[in-house]
Amino acid sequence: MAAPKLIVGNWKMNGLLADSTDRTQKLAQGFKANPKSLMVLCPPATMIGAVAATLRGSQIRFGGQDCHHEKSGAFTGNISAEMLRNLGCNYVILGHSERRQQMGETDAMVAAKAKAAHENHMISIICVGETEAQRTNKEAELVVKNQLKFSMPSTSTPENTVIAYEPLWAIGSGKTASPDAIEQMHKVIRGLIGTTRILYGGSVTAANAEQILSIPNVDGVLVGGASLKPEEFLAIADGVK
Ligand code: PGA
Repeated sequence: MAAPKLIVGNWKMNGLLADSTDRTQKLAQGFKANPKSLMVLCPPATMIGAVAATLRGSQIRFGGQDCHHEKSGAFTGNISAEMLRNLGCNYVILGHSERRQQMGETDAMVAAKAKAAHENHMISIICVGETEAQRTNKEAELVVKNQLKFSMPSTSTPENTVIAYEPLWAIGSGKTASPDAIEQMHKVIRGLIGTTRILYGGSVTAANAEQILSIPNVDGVLVGGASLKPEEFLAIADGVK
């Protein structure tokens, strides 16, 4: 039996307590545990405790959107991997392109964070992906190869690491990468990382999920905007055949 496909929702900086709890309740009611798919919710840090409480008894997992690489100390505003784990997180998204671009996160910083996640028994979801200009210049594969090489720490194993390929021009743009482009890049990534799972992210919706999830070497999806709508996110999970 193939490993379950991961359906990960990245809520980004959206939602307050009431609507997050409502969304989580709807997902917990609607998601039927099955061997083919595993749902993971990554709410803003302030919402993790409430999401965890709402998901008690459910098969849905949850995680953070970032963590600091240090265990504790004078790092105002940051959250450690241990703190996420302490709330019950099994996953943490790291090196999302928004953090790489807006917060200046480098591959080395992402690798240090992933190591902290692994040391705290969490699965790191390490994001990679090229910009539109890099794709136009035919540098996409080189960019992704380098991000993989330097963002995955020595502690990475196929069990504790998931790679999310998210071309930057496809994120929040409604411009999903073509099935051929996804297949080609996932094949390249597979050649470098073996059995480590590879997700696709970038404008995944209920309308395209089934097709994307059927592409070779696509082990799941990382969903932003569409993960905020419970019916749509449930429909995306239904796209696993
Ligand atoms: P999107 O975001 O689904 O809204 O394109 C994906 C992501 O940033 O992870």
